Amino acid sequence: MLKVEEQQPEVFPETLIEKFNEIISRYPEGKQKSALLPMLHEVQAVFGWLSVPSMDKVAGYLGIMPIEVYEVASFYTMYFLKPQGKYMLEVCRTGPCCLVGAEKVMAHIEQTLGVKEGEVTPDGLFSWRGVECLAACGFGPVLQIGPEYTFYENLNEEKVDQLIQDLRNK
Ligand code: FES
Repeated sequence: MLKVEEQQPEVFPETLIEKFNEIISRYPEGKQKSALLPMLHEVQAVFGWLSVPSMDKVAGYLGIMPIEVYEVASFYTMYFLKPQGKYMLEVCRTGPCCLVGAEKVMAHIEQTLGVKEGEVTPDGLFSWRGVECLAACGFGPVLQIGPEYTFYENLNEEKVDQLIQDLRNK
């Protein structure tokens, strides 16, 4: 965990600053704070998560208090406040998916990857977590894989093994 944090550069890359400027320009004068969510997405796309120094920098660009950034980043589950694996496997753990085997799928992922929910595999490739309904209740168990949020339905252990293998081979 510390290792990843150390890799996070102090300075945002120029491409990220350009993206910030483009996003901020979409909003009328005085409403730049509305750019916060897409800016956080961009930061996360570059670093894989949102560190406190990164959120402080975003606050600085928008001229808002850091606490306003922390509030947003800690409210939405799509933002990660600690380092994650390159691929995040998110399994729906809501009732309908549990009825058709979501818990079994999560247990299998935990066993296959050898890490508990929210942890990162030693090679830095994978994290996994249970999430609330992914809106495909008739096709469970389902999972999505970030950062692209590719969607997979009707899962079983064999399909999960294949998915993980495909990601390892990428
Ligand atoms: Fe799993 Fe809705 S309950 S997608």
